[in-house]
Amino acid sequence: MSEKKVYIYTRFERFWHWMQAMLIFFLLLTGFEVHGSYKFFGYDQAVRYHAVAAYALIVLIAFAIFWHAVTGQWKQYVPTRKMLTAQLRYYILGIFRDEPHPTRKTALSKLNPLQRLVYLGLKILVIPVMVISGVLYMLYRYPSSHGVAAINVDSLTFIAVLHTAGAFALAFFIIAHVYLTTTGRTVTSNLEAMMTGYEVIEDDTPDGEAPERGEPRPDETTSDHPEHAPEIAANA
Ligand code: HEM
Repeated sequence: MSEKKVYIYTRFERFWHWMQAMLIFFLLLTGFEVHGSYKFFGYDQAVRYHAVAAYALIVLIAFAIFWHAVTGQWKQYVPTRKMLTAQLRYYILGIFRDEPHPTRKTALSKLNPLQRLVYLGLKILVIPVMVISGVLYMLYRYPSSHGVAAINVDSLTFIAVLHTAGAFALAFFIIAHVYLTTTGRTVTSNLEAMMTGYEVIEDDTPDGEAPERGEPRPDETTSDHPEHAPEIAANA
């Protein structure tokens, strides 16, 4: 079986990924100190750091939205049910039986069907919830500290519960995400790809045309997955 090196992640994508990872990790660290879970920076300092990282994340998100829009990379996140069950089954069972990955990563289709669904959920639900609840939190406490009259918010409870629930969801995601990054071709191949941009991919199809993510391997039947994977723009 031959192998080929493919450029999967562009420079901006890698910068965005690692900045986002650092900021979310730092927001978790400072956020849970604000929450009262432990003492590390000290409450006042944690609040200040949390606000700075939050502003940085908002700026990063603005750049990322622009990048996804102009490069067409948003199409990577269009969900598909095709191979979704196979991918789930692989993570639950196949991976422990040394079975091959059911889908293949290419520059045109980087995300498997499960990743598409989870990342889309983060982008359109969890991150917006965190940003909106966080900003409302800020508006509430600073400068008025008497609620946000303009938008009729007079209790912090709902916002705080939402923001904290989102933080738990992100913490859970990070743990699962870090584990899943070790399940590539080798333990570090996914990590290396996100650092260098390049990933070595098996090339086991006769004409070198590897099936894309969301596409089954040649030996698999698609009869119970009638949907077609969405087209992905070539931008990587
Ligand atoms: C742009 C996004 C965000 C903004 C504007 C924001 C803003 C805030 C603010 C103003 C507070 C209250 C600080 C205080 O009590 O003085 C807070 C609390 C908190 N934040 Fe964020 N935050 C953001 C993102 C995040 C993220 C991504 C996480 C976790 C991954 C997070 C986790 C927390 C936690 C756990 C608390 C404590 C909540 C509580 O105990 O009620 N925040 N955030």
